[in-house]
Amino acid sequence: MSEPQLRSEPKRRGLAVAKTKDIEKSAVEKAYDRWAPVYDLVFGPVFERGRRASLAAAERVGGRILEVGVGTGISLPDYASTNTIFGCDISDAMLDKARARVSELGLKHVEGLAVMDAEHLDFPDNSFDVVVAQYVITAVPDPEAALTEFARVLKPGGEIVILSRVGAEAGLRKTIEHWFQPAARKLGWRTEFPWERYANWASQMPNIHLVERRTIPPLGHFSLIRFGKTAATAKTGIKVSRAANG
Ligand SMILES: C[S@@+](CC[C@H](N)C(=O)[O-])C[C@H]1O[C@@H](n2cnc3c(N)ncnc32)[C@H](O)[C@@H]1O
Repeated sequence: MSEPQLRSEPKRRGLAVAKTKDIEKSAVEKAYDRWAPVYDLVFGPVFERGRRASLAAAERVGGRILEVGVGTGISLPDYASTNTIFGCDISDAMLDKARARVSELGLKHVEGLAVMDAEHLDFPDNSFDVVVAQYVITAVPDPEAALTEFARVLKPGGEIVILSRVGAEAGLRKTIEHWFQPAARKLGWRTEFPWERYANWASQMPNIHLVERRTIPPLGHFSLIRFGKTAATAKTGIKVSRAANG
């Protein structure tokens, strides 16, 4: 686990980055509608290691879990049946695959599946013990808005578990990510996504703290990122958290 450097960048710069909407929601939705028939074949094994890491993190907290960008529901059979999972996604075609999976495998721990935008979650505040987003954040037009929604629907003491690409800060990988960015956008995601965006978002959320940030082998292009939500008392400012140690 590498220790967080949350407040390293000035807020203003972060806000300027956050305001840039470089991908369109309708384009992302269409891209994933097209990916749906072959998604599991193409992205099933490649992303497996990361999914296992994020499920393990989610289940350390356990309880009622929201998986945002659940896609074809590829992770659903792997959650322990002691948890309750709600899956949402912007692509109905991806969700059709998830619905079929739930019914074919009789996954009783899946509470529901719904078309929903990560930036506008249709749940009351403090609804879930864990919010999971695997390989989703870089596909959302306004990732900071989505993260704020995750924090809103999360119960105090709960965790946001994110598995996502964090852009390289220098070197060959940064050059490749920059070069590949226009093509990636058409496929439905960004290759360039600096850690600074998470850091600036979290620094503006009084009840959110970084629990863990670690790269996922073998290449380290993807990271597991965990944020905890604290219950802050208005008078004393004392924060109460039951978040797991990184
Ligand atoms: C790369 S896939 C990941 C699917 C699955 N989580 C996995 O582990 O394979 C990204 C998913 O995020 C969904 N997505 C993209 N933008 C979204 C948004 N704004 N709200 C909800 N889901 C979104 C896509 O439709 C797609 O199913």
